[in-house]
Formats: sequence, structure tokens, C-alpha cells
Amino acid sequence: MFLEKAPAPQLTDEGVVFHHVPVLLSEVLEELCLFPGARVLDCTLGGGGHSQAMLERGARVTGLDCDEMALEAATARLQGFAEFRAFRVNFGDLLEDDWLARIGPQDAVLMDLGVSSTQLDVGQRGFSIRRDGPLDMRMDRRLEVSAVDVIRDYSEAELRRIFFQFGEESAAGKVARRLVQDRSRQPIRTTGELVKILESVLGRPRPGKVHPATKVFQAIRMEVNRELERLQTGLQAAFEVLVSGGKLLVMSYHSLEDRCVKQFVQDRLGRCRCPRGVPVCVCGATALLKARGKAIQASPAEIDRNPRARSVRLRIATKL
Ligand SMILES: C[S@@+](CC[C@H](N)C(=O)[O-])C[C@H]1O[C@@H](n2cnc3c(N)ncnc32)[C@H](O)[C@@H]1O
Repeated sequence: MFLEKAPAPQLTDEGVVFHHVPVLLSEVLEELCLFPGARVLDCTLGGGGHSQAMLERGARVTGLDCDEMALEAATARLQGFAEFRAFRVNFGDLLEDDWLARIGPQDAVLMDLGVSSTQLDVGQRGFSIRRDGPLDMRMDRRLEVSAVDVIRDYSEAELRRIFFQFGEESAAGKVARRLVQDRSRQPIRTTGELVKILESVLGRPRPGKVHPATKVFQAIRMEVNRELERLQTGLQAAFEVLVSGGKLLVMSYHSLEDRCVKQFVQDRLGRCRCPRGVPVCVCGATALLKARGKAIQASPAEIDRNPRARSVRLRIATKL
């Protein structure tokens, strides 16, 4: 088993204390150009690090998280701020049930995708390669399907597809075949059991290198939480809730997520889609967003301090 040292989440009488370090914090604050009373929707509250910094600069923050543990910890941390409120909701559901009306118009929307360090480090949540626990991986524990169901019920072809598509795992076929063989002998119920099988196919971890099971774990997590689907609807909801001139900031850690954000913005830049040779534009393309050039990445100094920042891409767009 891979035993690289990870900071253990602190446990208190109130539960888990978040130790998540916000990524690209100064870049996010600079791009937001907050003014006193600016309304910001933080769709991924997590440990509340970004939200706290925005509240300290006079913003009014609405925080969302679908994870009860995160929501409770962030609410406890930010309870002293009068201009903070929080809801337990998946941002992929914001187009339903009157959520946008409840939240109201916003000057900025922030999405910091994926899971937090704390979710990763609490073994019982089942996200961790390093800490044994039940194969769960649900951010929202009200979801019916967890990682154990995916590993038990998906066909070999379905497993191969998610490992390849979401994990970009080149040995997807080999891993899927081995899992199907092993589960027919004995159910796979814990992260430790899964890691052992993955190490037997993909090799043992090497010091200083990313664990070989990382891509498969990521793929299962994305499948369980339907992360790409949720992102699509979440982006549309974010666009709708923004006022004209409002800013959308999305931080992704996975190339498929980043592609999805990039495409969402590109589709709204108003680029003409008329066939070549048409003398006057007839496609009616209208610019709805203005993009801020290339994605922002973390500096080497930040990556050194916080390896989680290694793969981040921050994309920013302004609603016209
Ligand atoms: C990377 S963490 C955010 C960290 C936060 N920016 C901070 O400074 O502490 C992502 C958080 O978003 C939540 N999350 C991810 N996808 C979500 C979704 N579709 N809807 C609501 N919350 C989501 C996760 O549960 C997690 O707590």
C-alpha cells in the first residue's frame, strides 16, 4: 500500500476540521475586482478558504456544497460573517426548483471543481488511495450509487470506458478485465482492496511519483458523482445568475473538465458559424461572454507549497 505522508485531517468534538489550502487565491481575488457589497456565488464552498478571503474584502457570499461535511465545516468557520449564507445543493441542480430565484442576481460566480484535500484524506469517505476505507466516493451521501456499486455492477466494457474516458488510463482494458475476474471470486469493498488489485496491474508506487492508481480512482469518482454532466448544467446556471458585467471563474483540475469549460465559453463568444463564402452573416451569432485569454496556472512557488495546485487551470469570462 502507498504510504506517502499526508496531513491527517484534524478531528474535534464538532467533527472534521478542514485543512484545505485554497488554490490560486491571490489570482482569484485579483480577477474578481471585488467592491464592497459585491454578490459572489461560491458554488464549491469546500473548506471555505476562497469564501473567507472574499468576505474579508467586503463581498456578500452565498456558498454551495453538496457535501454535508464540507458545508458544516465551512459554515462553522464563516459563521461570524453577517454577509454569508450557505445551502446544501449540487450546482448541477441549480436550474431546478427555483434555486436561481432564491440565490438572486450575482456579480461573480466561482467554481473550484473536484474534491477538497479533507475529503481526500478522510479514509471513511472512500476517495483516498492512501487511507483504507469503504469504497464510497460520493460527495453527496444522499446519492444512491457509490463506488462499490460501480465496481460490483458495471460490465467490463463500461469499466473500460470510464477508466479510459475519465481517467485517461492507457491500461483501461487490462484494469477492467482484472477487476471483473477478481470480483467474481470475492467482492471488492474497500479502497485498500482496490488499491492492491490496481497495484498488481499498474505497478507499485514509486517515491516522489503520482500513485499508479490515481487515474482509476479519479475515473470512478467522476462517474459516481456524474461530474461532467453536473458541470455542464452548473455552467449554464452560473451564466443565468450572473448580471451583465458579472464574472465567471472556473478552476478545473482535469483536462476533460477544462475542455468543457473552454467549450462553454467559446460557444458564447458570438463567433460567426456561417459557411465560408456567405457574404453576410446569417447565423445570428451573438456574443454573450467575453473570455479572458489563456487559462491561468499556478506558479512553481505555489505548486511547491501546495502540490494540489499542479494541475489547476483557471478560466475567466465576463457576461456581456
Ligand atoms: C476543491 S473543493 C473547494 C475548496 C474551496 N474553494 C476552499 O477554498 O476551501 C471542492 C468542493 O466542491 C464541492 N463540489 C464539487 N462538485 C460539486 C457540485 N457539483 N455541487 C456542489 N458542490 C460540489 C466538493 O464537495 C468540495 O467540497
